[in-house]
Amino acid sequence: MIPSVGALSGRDFLDVADLEPAELRELLDLAHAIKAGRWTGRPLEGRHIALLFQKPSHRTRVSFEVGIGRLGGGVTYLTEQDVQLGVRETVGDAARVLDSYVDGVVARLRSHADLLELAAASERPVINALTNRSHPCQILADLMTLEEVSGSLAQQKVVYIGDGNNIAVSLMEAAERMGFSLTVITPPGYAPPADIVDGRLPASNRGSGVTLSTDVADAAVATAIYTDVWASMGQESEREVRRKAFAGYQVNRAVMDAAPDAVFMHCLPAHRGEEVTDEVIDGRRSVVFQQAANRLYAQMALMAQLFGAAP
Ligand code: CP
Ligand code: NVA
Repeated sequence: MIPSVGALSGRDFLDVADLEPAELRELLDLAHAIKAGRWTGRPLEGRHIALLFQKPSHRTRVSFEVGIGRLGGGVTYLTEQDVQLGVRETVGDAARVLDSYVDGVVARLRSHADLLELAAASERPVINALTNRSHPCQILADLMTLEEVSGSLAQQKVVYIGDGNNIAVSLMEAAERMGFSLTVITPPGYAPPADIVDGRLPASNRGSGVTLSTDVADAAVATAIYTDVWASMGQESEREVRRKAFAGYQVNRAVMDAAPDAVFMHCLPAHRGEEVTDEVIDGRRSVVFQQAANRLYAQMALMAQLFGAAP
């Protein structure tokens, strides 16, 4: 069944945890329907969306712009140089002005605190297109990809190897919401933020849910091995230090051989030769380009639900 569009009308999507499991389910169902050509609505007809980006982007920008067009809407892309949040004007003033022009905002901001401030000041729905803390739109596409690969999320044993960064945080929220097993393997000192860990981990690490580890050998049970860059956007000056700290955490042939049932996932862009070898990312078990392609459908579903008129 195709869910009704506009079900989340007016809501923000700042984190995976903003949506209840049933709402995430509906969103994924709509995303699959869009990809299969079973739904071709244009709920953004006559509506205009602002993309407000302080960091570079390939996948996120293009998939949002194309998606808005396919849904019938218009889009304005604003860079750091245009709005200069907190420099030319406060986050709150910028939000209130944007509100008077557009019907929704998709923001990629350096600081998650700024995103929360923007969303609080804006009466329009705001979508998080990545902050230093989380990347929920990426994870929507990843959930869709996991369902395409294996049919069901509940059976998944996802193992994330690398930095406890924005991808790890959103994956943890998704595991908790959608009930799949997730192990996050990081070097000591690079675990996800403490408040996320405290909030998501079951008291004794038992049963399904999220487990933390520092041992790559724990990846052997995986149905999906996921990694991301060791130095995220904004951490370029730490790249050398991190290269050393993460040296034993590369996803290479040995790691994949030890997990024979696992597909390989990466949000891209990849630093080939660091967190992943060419052989793995270009290998038969890699689904990275499927993940990237699914950004379009997952975000079209999200925008239809948030920016479309209520049913
Ligand atoms: N995965 C992702 O968000 O890619 P971009 O940074 O290129 O948008
Ligand atoms: N962790 C990466 C994700 C890029 C999509 C970053 O924030 O740069």
